[in-house]
Amino acid sequence: MCGIVGYTGTSQAAPILLDGLARLEYRGYDSAGLAIRDGSELAQVVKSTGKLRSLIEKTDSGRSLAGTCGIGHTRWATHGEPSQTNAHPHVSGNCTGSACGQVESEVVGVHNGIIENYLELRDKLSRHGYQFYSETDTEVVVKLIDYYYRKYKIGPVDAINRTLVRVRGTYALALMFRDHPGEIYAARKDAPMIIGVSGENSYLASDVPAILNYTRSVYYIGNLQIARVLPGEVHFYDLNGDEVQLERTEITWDAKAAEKNGFEHFMIKEIYEQPAAVRDTLASLLCDGKISLADTGLDDTTLRSVSSIRIVACGSAWHVGMAAQYILEDLAQIPVRVELASEYRYRKVLSDDRELLIVISQSGETADSLAALRKGKDMGIRTLAIVNVVGSTIAREADHVLYTHAGPEIAVATTKAYSSQLIAIYCLAVETAFMLGRIDEEAYEYYIQELTSLPDKITRILEEKERIQWFASKYSNARDIFFIGRGLDYAISLEGSLKAKEISYVHSEAYAAGELKHGTISLIEDNILVIGVLTQKDLFEKTVSNMAECKARGAYLMALTSYGNYSVEDSADFTVYVPKADPHFMASLAVVPLQLFGYYSGVARGLDVDKPRNLAKSVTVE
Ligand code: AGP
Repeated sequence: MCGIVGYTGTSQAAPILLDGLARLEYRGYDSAGLAIRDGSELAQVVKSTGKLRSLIEKTDSGRSLAGTCGIGHTRWATHGEPSQTNAHPHVSGNCTGSACGQVESEVVGVHNGIIENYLELRDKLSRHGYQFYSETDTEVVVKLIDYYYRKYKIGPVDAINRTLVRVRGTYALALMFRDHPGEIYAARKDAPMIIGVSGENSYLASDVPAILNYTRSVYYIGNLQIARVLPGEVHFYDLNGDEVQLERTEITWDAKAAEKNGFEHFMIKEIYEQPAAVRDTLASLLCDGKISLADTGLDDTTLRSVSSIRIVACGSAWHVGMAAQYILEDLAQIPVRVELASEYRYRKVLSDDRELLIVISQSGETADSLAALRKGKDMGIRTLAIVNVVGSTIAREADHVLYTHAGPEIAVATTKAYSSQLIAIYCLAVETAFMLGRIDEEAYEYYIQELTSLPDKITRILEEKERIQWFASKYSNARDIFFIGRGLDYAISLEGSLKAKEISYVHSEAYAAGELKHGTISLIEDNILVIGVLTQKDLFEKTVSNMAECKARGAYLMALTSYGNYSVEDSADFTVYVPKADPHFMASLAVVPLQLFGYYSGVARGLDVDKPRNLAKSVTVE
């Protein structure tokens, strides 16, 4: 997704903006640009395609752009190909590749999101004499603001308000007006943005890492709110143009947490942070040795009223939901349905007011998951969000929030957030089961004991990573990989397959082991890698049989199981063992070798494992 930064204060803006954009690179992009004001009427606009490095070189690390106020952008193309002309910032005048530089436009802006009705607006503006140099929806929005600003001779806030009422879609906008030097105007709807202040300086960004080195004191601007950002002060307005007061929040993240700390990639760092992320998330849900959901507001009465649970999410978060189904149904004995957010949001959903809708999202900004949350709320369903980013949109709009404590997750491929989400689910399942009388005190204490043992067991797996590292390098050029399992092992296979695909670009599929023979086994031939996940004791032999069926057709078998199941070596060509834990919690252990497999496969192929091609950390557009 696009990244936005802004700064106005007493320092030179360009170096600060470039530093902020560098910390947003994980969001995925294909071009970048800056617009800087030095107090004169003109803005300096510089853009570049490709990596941020070319913009840094073009501006001599920002030194060639004098000025203490500016905005910056990294673009993940939605409308219009990646090009210098389509790169942001966009202006109300002309700014093609060559015409950039000093622009005397009334309005200059950057945008994250999608304007769905931009073509009709573009036609409207063309009829009023506007000409367009790019293919982007952003240029249309900037020119529409300019149109209202000139036509009604109103201030920036009112011109933006009129525009927000007219556009449909999602946006986080940062704008500068020629007649208002030193000021930045911002507005958002369903796309992330925060605004920070420190002394006589103000900062604006799509996400925390971009400003964490400058301030921890931030405002989370609300949907359909406008901000007027001055050096060291911010004013907020609603759609009526009335000023509104927002509370300032202190960010508790450690700046180092958003750095690599000596690891080669954020992904491996975050894999190694899993023991801490699991421990911290668990600690946040334990009070005097008992699970406490008090912070979520889900009390016993509320939980007793729940007759069914529906879990909606995307990607790895959906895989957590798939695991949750087995765990919640087995422990709490509440019917659970798991759905892809992108399907749920457009489906005719039959539900009742005794359903609990759980939306799982690391970023709390995923468009499909946010839409699903809103659909559930519109239907009067009680909603619980399991989110990693404090103050994110999903966190703020859900009825109840259970925060995971994975810390900032920078790598596009989620690892520690996935593991923290599992802990949240385990605690919800065990607490609900105990409260409903489905498990007794002894079982309750046993499960909590098992949960507290997980961080050390994950550490032990990481200490023995060399075997999986070697195997991943050996199979990094595989053509197809099949991950198979039954029950929870199928849910684990889903996450293992996605890690392999999104990091090493090797095609892989996760399959319910018992389903292979209904067609897909026709794909098994010599040397196809089949990874069998075998953590569930009562399904162990069945899956081993399915693996043997693949071996009989030429497959190379890797088994992933817990220590003690040595009989699997009679079938498997290569076996990875993990420590034992209660079967309900084995996903937390089995997923670690699969994360390492995906990571080392990508490294072996020389790929950008933190920023895989075509992907973004948070998919804030449809
Ligand atoms: C997983 O490695 C991917 N990054 C992706 O599938 C991700 O889990 C999905 O986009 C959901 O993101 P969210 O948790 O921020 O909503």
